[in-house]
Amino acid sequence: MTDPFSRRHFLHAAGAGAASVWIPRTVHGYTEAEVRKMAFNERVEEGISKWDLDTPCLIVDLDRLEGNLDRMQTTLARNGIASRPHAKTHKCPAIARLQVATGSVGICVAKISEAEVMFEHGIEQILMTTVNVTPRKIRRAMHLKKWCTGFIQAVDNPANARDLSAAAAEAGVVADIVVDVDPGGHRSGITAGAPALELAQLVDTLPALRLRGLLCYDGGAQHVQAFADRRTRALSSLEGAAETLVQMNRSGLDTRVFSGGGTGTYNIDHETPGLTDVQVGSYVFMDAQYLALGGAHNPDKYDDFAPALTVMTTVVNAQYEGLATTDAGAKANTINQPWPIIAGETGMSYTAGSDEYGSIRYGDDASRIYAVGDKLELIVSHCDPVVNLYDQMYGVRGDTVEVIWPVSARGKSV
Ligand SMILES: Cc1ncc(COP(=O)(O)O)c(C=O)c1O
Repeated sequence: MTDPFSRRHFLHAAGAGAASVWIPRTVHGYTEAEVRKMAFNERVEEGISKWDLDTPCLIVDLDRLEGNLDRMQTTLARNGIASRPHAKTHKCPAIARLQVATGSVGICVAKISEAEVMFEHGIEQILMTTVNVTPRKIRRAMHLKKWCTGFIQAVDNPANARDLSAAAAEAGVVADIVVDVDPGGHRSGITAGAPALELAQLVDTLPALRLRGLLCYDGGAQHVQAFADRRTRALSSLEGAAETLVQMNRSGLDTRVFSGGGTGTYNIDHETPGLTDVQVGSYVFMDAQYLALGGAHNPDKYDDFAPALTVMTTVVNAQYEGLATTDAGAKANTINQPWPIIAGETGMSYTAGSDEYGSIRYGDDASRIYAVGDKLELIVSHCDPVVNLYDQMYGVRGDTVEVIWPVSARGKSV
């Protein structure tokens, strides 16, 4: 069925002899489906401006994204460690492929369904950083291992290791395993030292498992405000895992992987002895939560990486003094805080608490006042859950839409 409101339909109607139909020079508001039709192999050839996209929509600035990838790789190479970026951030195989093509040793995933999507789209080195504990997920993971030989599974308790070994044997595979060591937050992982060493030894002896090392991720360390405090916390929370690694080495165990760390500690983690790679996620996009921290060189702003991800929104009401309402509320932004930042403007704030509406409040020094129909971009509050709200993201170079990337692992939360 033809969409009566689509630009294509409108132009078609105009071309079909309706000489009196007025066609505006720029028709604002291409639908997702229309832009998809203009794309070949994800690339858009027709020179669409991002300002002509229907909103709310998700936009990634390609120059910034590429700059972030480059910045990460250059720093890690200098520090002698690798990146194994976490795909839970972008859920987008095209970005995972870019990361691998620019030097990452593989990717991480949080869910077995994410792993399946990434493998289907050509990613072969996948570390699952969370444990699979139900029989169904264990079977899925071992089935994936059959095809994806570079799949590595985290384990943090002996019973789970035995279940995995049984499932691996049933699937006819030998599963590669890393022991997840608790950095002290008791959210996941086994206690460092003797318990972790014993688990590693058990994995080493189980018939259908092959030990590959360990991982230790301290989420709480990533967002410590001041760089010096962040460094102290990160180094101390990974200390137990580093000692466990030494004990594993002494016992002759395989320790080729020691993975940990994230965007907040990427330039600290190489100081942890033996660490091989960082599981950085947010650096590709950045967000308001990370920008609010201090960096190694700038105590007021974490500006090591450029904000590349924005939600484009349209003003739908501007008739009340001091306020404007947009079409991007909680369903387009989540309700994470700090609230999104209005890109390129000052003297105004944004809240996204209502389901369908966002609110702009102007201060006395607002850099501009919006009219109905105006569009603006929001630097997202927290990138991971925002990406999970969109089927696709538009990659732009300057103002021009260059690619459409499906968020193929969107909603893959199982
Ligand atoms: C296990 C694990 N590793 C790495 C990351 C990536 O962290 P960041 O986005 O801070 O780089 C996360 C994010 O929560 C995570 O849970």
